[in-house]
Amino acid sequence: MGLKSKDLLGLRDITREEIELILDTAVPMKDIILRKIKKVPTLRGKAVVNLFYENSTRTRTSFELAGKYLSADTINIAASSSSVAKGETLKDTAKTIEVMGADVIILRHGASGSPHLLARHVKASVINAGDGTHEHPTQALLDMYTIREKLGRLEGLKVAILGDVLHSRVARSNIWGLTKMGAEVRVVGPSTLLPPEIEKLGVQAYTRVEEALEGVDVINVLRIQLERQQKGLFPTVREYARIFGLNAGRLKYAKPDALVLHPGPMNRGVEISPDVADGIQSVITEQVTNGVAVRMALLYLLTGGGAAEDAR
Ligand code: CP
Repeated sequence: MGLKSKDLLGLRDITREEIELILDTAVPMKDIILRKIKKVPTLRGKAVVNLFYENSTRTRTSFELAGKYLSADTINIAASSSSVAKGETLKDTAKTIEVMGADVIILRHGASGSPHLLARHVKASVINAGDGTHEHPTQALLDMYTIREKLGRLEGLKVAILGDVLHSRVARSNIWGLTKMGAEVRVVGPSTLLPPEIEKLGVQAYTRVEEALEGVDVINVLRIQLERQQKGLFPTVREYARIFGLNAGRLKYAKPDALVLHPGPMNRGVEISPDVADGIQSVITEQVTNGVAVRMALLYLLTGGGAAEDAR
């Protein structure tokens, strides 16, 4: 069994079985990353293009390394230094890349839905690396991989997603993914940063952090997206940190061995205190490593790879 679509556009569109396949395939991929020689010939002759219209450290670099570890030819295009800056459209840019032989185009774009548009116009596989406030499926996959690796399962776990849910593509992909995998998802933040009717996605919404964190297995702390904020959604960054920031006192409401996740980049001292970010319950650095494994799995599966055991 492989993935049903040529693309990975979001976790809303894929099944629980497909999520399990990606997570299972990432397990042997992680073994490759941990080897002394991190290179296998699996994607030799395949071309992977990172097309990024927004800044990124983790996602862009991990896709590039994922491709390189699998022996694909990987290229990075930043919109700011390409012909996009001269007015070329997304569709024309992608077509240009495709006719040069790209097998996979990885797109990060500020407009929600842009990877879906692209996927309809190119034969290459399109992977959504974050589209506006819509979805960031590979981040949610690496979050789920990390939780499953540490706690052994996703089914039945209580997961709190804390912070700026309104602007967060990470939150939306985690909600789709975790609820499909049988986790109980709580979202918590200021009422101005919770989308209206968010409960319709199968989650419980809270505005008091202590109440939301009571007895949870996992806390996924979201970045305050200062670049996407409109005025007046919360009074000041200091006020936000005081009422909604995850600190050692609030962490005590969760289970004693609860995991702390953050997709990065962190605003230290705002949504998360430095002692919690660097504390023993934090798995933030492991998330980054797992991001490479999950992206290797996806590149493998979308370019024709089959069962997880074949990837070894
Ligand atoms: N988590 C995440 O998407 O980080 P980057 O913006 O650095 O890719």
